[in-house]
Amino acid sequence: METLRTSSAMAARSRALRAEDRVVGFVPTMGALHEGHLSLIRIASALADVTVVSVFVNPTQFGPTEDFDRYPRDLECDAALAEAAGCDILFAPEPADVYPRGHATVVHVERMGERLCGAARPGHFDGVTTVVAKLLNVVRPSLAVFGQKDGQQLAIVERMVADLNMGVEIIRAPTVREADGLAMSSRNAYLSAEERREAPALYRALREAAALYEGGERDARAVVGAVRSLIESGSRAAVQYVSAVDAATLEDVAELRPGTMIAVAAHFGGTRLIDNIVLP
Ligand code: PAJ
Repeated sequence: METLRTSSAMAARSRALRAEDRVVGFVPTMGALHEGHLSLIRIASALADVTVVSVFVNPTQFGPTEDFDRYPRDLECDAALAEAAGCDILFAPEPADVYPRGHATVVHVERMGERLCGAARPGHFDGVTTVVAKLLNVVRPSLAVFGQKDGQQLAIVERMVADLNMGVEIIRAPTVREADGLAMSSRNAYLSAEERREAPALYRALREAAALYEGGERDARAVVGAVRSLIESGSRAAVQYVSAVDAATLEDVAELRPGTMIAVAAHFGGTRLIDNIVLP
């Protein structure tokens, strides 16, 4: 595996790969790699000739009171994990390389980034789409793999790629979970032992929503209400939202159907966790 530290070195490398007609697969990450990220890398390397993984803690997607400064960073450890999962090129640029002085462009997908997580994190998805557009332009992959864990992010990236004719195939990868159902996340490391014990309440409530759906329930409002009260009775979490939306458009649905995403965000102490399921 090689490690490239600048956008110009990465762009030159990917130009050479394209000239050799090699299929490049890409997995963008913010590092602190866990099994969720590694599953994406394995998917990319099964589909592509060359797998590129970026590690970049993107400052523009963090709010002023969020955890940018304390976000876990360990490039050496990430490099070893990424390589073992099939990464060929690790792209780890510095903020000054990605956002040089004078940088003035923001990629904004209308409406989709203002609801769900976007309501509590204004500007977050502009930071995500801007950096993902830039990374895709540098790496120029044939395909890029994103996790369903961040279902809103996935839908917004798909919209951006279609709207801007970016010509990259976006692959949706399933959420990887701990044995007790908690979706893996770099932020799980912030949980106290007690919060960690309670955090699987999110997925338990989502499973119950799926069971209600399988039992014939179609009323989104009833299911959303059930999910909220299950989380609130099963933990001390402060629920931020529970929503039933179309997984592709993120628009609210009144009636549950295949492709409906039930998404939740909740605070366990100071840690904000998200999870979702898409109805089959
Ligand atoms: P990060 O949170 O590091 O996640 C990188 C990728 O890993 C995302 O596509 C995310 O959905 C996926 N992922 C995280 N946890 C997962 C899990 N438990 N199962 C499956 N996939 C999981 O998402 C970002 O970084 C950033 O916003 C980024 C896209 C890199 C732009 O900065």
